[in-house]
Amino acid sequence: MAENNGIQDQNFKEILQKTHDSTVQIHAEISRIIADLRPTQLDTLGLVAAIRQHIYSNVASRGINVHFDLDNVERQLLPEEELSIFRWAQGAVGNIIQHAQAENVEVSLKQREEKLILTISDDGKGFEIDRLTEMREKGRGYGLLNMKERMILIGGSCSVQTQPGEGTTVTAELPLFGRELVKK
Ligand SMILES: Nc1ncnc2c1ncn2[C@@H]1O[C@H](COP(=O)(O)OP(=O)(O)OP(=O)(O)O)[C@@H](O)[C@H]1O
Ligand SMILES: [Mg+2]
Repeated sequence: MAENNGIQDQNFKEILQKTHDSTVQIHAEISRIIADLRPTQLDTLGLVAAIRQHIYSNVASRGINVHFDLDNVERQLLPEEELSIFRWAQGAVGNIIQHAQAENVEVSLKQREEKLILTISDDGKGFEIDRLTEMREKGRGYGLLNMKERMILIGGSCSVQTQPGEGTTVTAELPLFGRELVKK
């Protein structure tokens, strides 16, 4: 710590160092807690625009072409459903950035009478889906599992279509039976 260079008292120096270390740790912890909470864009922009913005600033900003085809969501979703779908999309985006080496990404959100379908496709390197179990034994490959669990918890589903060299498509579906129309 540069700030305590001029201090002679060893005891005081140690206390100062410890205080500094715990402040850094608390800051990291608070940042993590805030990141786990509901992202403010969900409330300020709504689900569709929040997804668009997240993908725009994380994928398009890296020079990857992004094509959006997003329906308006006209059926009322619960706040936790919106959060799960947003987190799901973040998981897909994270994988594209980390693994895909894609040039193009397509994001489609379709609202049908009875379900919502969100698809995120990339034209990157793809992977062997059969090797996921093997990866999990080595402590990796939990991102896709979390994405799937998130969707199942809200009564939806998640599927992955991929092959080495063939890009990757992840799809989330949420049934919309009996949902109220969104009030304008
Ligand atoms: N879009 C993608 N393009 C290419 N490979 C992918 C893509 N998504 C996932 N993968 C492959 O599938 C593996 C499993 O992905 P998953 O998200 O489950 O775990 P991870 O990304 O390795 O770890 P974590 O998500 O926990 O950081 C990845 O390690 C990667 O090899
Ligand atoms: Mg991942």
